[in-house]
Amino acid sequence: MKNLRVLMIGLGNVGQGFLKILADDSPAINASHDVSITVVGISDLRLGNYYTPQGFNPAALLKAIESGKLESLSEFKTTWSTEEWIERCEAEFLLEASFTNFTDAEPAISYCLAALKHGKHVVTSNKGPIALYYTELNTLARQHNLRLGVEGTVMSGTPSMALGMDLLKAADISRIQGILNGTTNYILTRMEEGNSYEAALAEAQQLGYAEADPTGDVEGFDAAGKVVILGNLVLGAPLTFADVDRKGISGITLADVESAKKDGKRWKLLGMLEKKGDKVSARVQPVELPISDPLAGVMGATNAITYTSKLMGNVTLIGPGAGRIETGYALLNDILTISTAK
Ligand code: HSE
Repeated sequence: MKNLRVLMIGLGNVGQGFLKILADDSPAINASHDVSITVVGISDLRLGNYYTPQGFNPAALLKAIESGKLESLSEFKTTWSTEEWIERCEAEFLLEASFTNFTDAEPAISYCLAALKHGKHVVTSNKGPIALYYTELNTLARQHNLRLGVEGTVMSGTPSMALGMDLLKAADISRIQGILNGTTNYILTRMEEGNSYEAALAEAQQLGYAEADPTGDVEGFDAAGKVVILGNLVLGAPLTFADVDRKGISGITLADVESAKKDGKRWKLLGMLEKKGDKVSARVQPVELPISDPLAGVMGATNAITYTSKLMGNVTLIGPGAGRIETGYALLNDILTISTAK
């Protein structure tokens, strides 16, 4: 049995989703994968850094976090800075699920680099470090014989990255197109049902789909981040945000949604990448799709991605694109995948 000790940074929706899975199912997960997953440390920007080599009880930890009070854990509080905490805590994994920052990826990127320097695998759903610094992180991980788990960065736990990076790696992918943001797809769905943009956004926030700052969702930055990640990790192109032609959905009104409906169409925010020779072009924009288009039928926080390749034609994957449990699952699956990697 492998002992998989985990440090967690970020105790928001994703971190809590991961803990909820452990709280509900950890004996079964451990038994079926012959592992023992224990959360030995937690770090929160406001509440400080905590460590116990014995591991926290996930249900009690979740309860303390949900109540916003970690006093019950005060005996485990350290005086270490987060970088020191990463270095000194004994653990196999760092789960990085703090807020996304597409400007310089801080503080997450510093935490990921520190973990790799100190012998910890990094598993993250945080798009900032992967969109901006994947090459550096991957190089450092390889130098230290460590792994980087990134599945949760695109389409939460729906295995879009594994599909593009591993399962279709020999197919010669030339085009990627998808609904890559759960919040905006949820908003457009609810608007079509007659709800206002504001009410639909508030629901998406309540359901844990939206980013801490939802501007990132509605203006297409989140989808653009995912396009950059797909460009770099799946197509091997050194894309940056500046290369993505981006437009969000904030300009789409109820009247636009109604008029598309009358014409047998539906608005979708699409992320698109196209490879021609060595050149990769990238866009994020709202598109009016005919109802007959398979992507038009993808509703709510569900996402979809189509990989077009020379050897396999179109392969489409549809599944959850956001959510606490769904993204928490991505972290768990990456931990298990890394623990069995040769
Ligand atoms: N805010 C993101 C979304 C979360 O709505 O898709 C998942 O990356």
